[in-house]
Amino acid sequence: MQPTAPPTVATAPATPALPSPPAALPTSAAAERNKQPILEVLQALLPPEARVLEVASGTGQHAAHFAHLHRRWCWQPTDGDAKALPIIAQRCAQLPNVHAPLHLDLLAPGPAGATAALPGAAFDAVFVSNLLHISPWPTCAALMGLAAARLREAGMLVVYGPFEVEGEPLAPSNGAFDADLRARDARWGLRKLGEVQAEAARAGLVFERRVAMPANNLMLVWRRPRALEATAPGACESVRSSAACGGPPPGP
Ligand SMILES: C[S@@+](CC[C@H](N)C(=O)[O-])C[C@H]1O[C@@H](n2cnc3c(N)ncnc32)[C@H](O)[C@@H]1O
Repeated sequence: MQPTAPPTVATAPATPALPSPPAALPTSAAAERNKQPILEVLQALLPPEARVLEVASGTGQHAAHFAHLHRRWCWQPTDGDAKALPIIAQRCAQLPNVHAPLHLDLLAPGPAGATAALPGAAFDAVFVSNLLHISPWPTCAALMGLAAARLREAGMLVVYGPFEVEGEPLAPSNGAFDADLRARDARWGLRKLGEVQAEAARAGLVFERRVAMPANNLMLVWRRPRALEATAPGACESVRSSAACGGPPPGP
């Protein structure tokens, strides 16, 4: 399973920059660096109109960047840390195609678990970045279960982050990062790609592609093969039919 080069992306007309958020908002330097390379891959993967569930949105920098440049992507940010939600909301306040962030903890107990907070509609894509190595291993199975339950037929799960690929040398920077993570929390650490693949397969997801990203990161894509049973209209449907997602797109 060799990585592929990032897909070719058509040049989009220039879009005015999103006004800067209040200086006091927490900002991730890594998200600032990787948001454009990730966007370029998402542009090649996602349809022009898409309902996207983002898991572990963190500071909301990805949600703001992607949704600003793709006004017909209806973005549902979430995070397991309730303290992140007002930060995401402030950062995305001027974007009508970004829903109010929801509290979604992948490890939430109970019969509905993490899905309890979500609107009923199926999503075209689930996106998550930099989560699996900074959370306990059961998060991986929970993510795959969530994607299998909430993606529409042929919808895709897109996962960005550093991974250990069995049979390939680990980049020194990733080795040092892994050691640092494990020192901070014994439950953290870079995940083995084969083990992540096994969890995805157990959930019924079909692996589609692996894209090499800057700084020894990967973007991994799976698809949900079967039709979902529950497709009741949810919040994304109402946004999609509004001017925010129905009007002419300012971006690609
Ligand atoms: C390293 S940050 C990444 C944030 C963002 N995706 C990015 O790439 O900048 C990890 C995020 O995962 C969230 N997180 C950790 N465990 C989680 C869980 N069980 N369910 C949902 N989110 C979780 C944290 O609250 C944090 O916002």
